[in-house]
Amino acid sequence: MDLIEAIQSRKSIRGFKPDPVPKQALKEIIEIASRAPSSLNTQPWECTVVAGEVIEKIKQGSVEQFASGVAPHPETVWHEGLEGKYRKRQVALGIQLYQLMDIGREDREKKIDWVKRGFRFFDAPAAIILSIDESARDVAQFDIGTITQTIALAAMNYGLGTCIQGQGIMYPEVIRKFTGIPETKRLSINLAIGYPDWDFPANKVQSERESIEITTTWCGI
Ligand SMILES: Cc1cc2nc3c(=O)[nH]c(=O)nc-3n(C[C@H](O)[C@H](O)[C@H](O)COP(=O)(O)O)c2cc1C
Repeated sequence: MDLIEAIQSRKSIRGFKPDPVPKQALKEIIEIASRAPSSLNTQPWECTVVAGEVIEKIKQGSVEQFASGVAPHPETVWHEGLEGKYRKRQVALGIQLYQLMDIGREDREKKIDWVKRGFRFFDAPAAIILSIDESARDVAQFDIGTITQTIALAAMNYGLGTCIQGQGIMYPEVIRKFTGIPETKRLSINLAIGYPDWDFPANKVQSERESIEITTTWCGI
């Protein structure tokens, strides 16, 4: 797959076919993505792949926590108290998603269903959880970003789609219970991964991007 085409066509996939992802494909994707750069070549990422019975138990465990009113308590902060243009961009995404999923402003039940779906890795047959050892935890987040995007791009070459997701690991004790990831590792991010169901409405989201006229300053060129 052409590199530029992959970058331009990658999008978050929030609806998957039930078909399992072959272990060999996941292995190759992680191997390829491990070429991602990291500060001082420290490669602080640790990948845990969940599928089959294990992912199903995690899905159930996280949904149960949510349904019983336990507040999500992620170990990584991805964003906080969004305001101004950041809040505007978040709202624009939410509006698109809710319109496509036919979720009305006041439709509490459908909203809750959507949140549960997120806790179920959007019903993906597999997920990759990235964690960081506590010895690297304060410095490694940037490096996790490089491998995460590289996994998402490499996956496309196998016909797979991903959603980079914080929500899947918001109940860390559920993840630890079924994967054995110890307390000494911080859960950083996950990717839901599987074959995209292109008929699933949320997969039609076209997220917007700010013009580079606004994001880029040119000096000496
Ligand atoms: C660090 C990070 C965390 C994210 N967490 C979630 C999440 O919990 N749920 C979700 O639906 N999308 C999540 N996303 C996906 C973003 O919403 C998505 O990348 C963004 O809206 C741009 O859309 P695109 O990926 O389709 O280009 C996350 C993305 C990143 C980079």
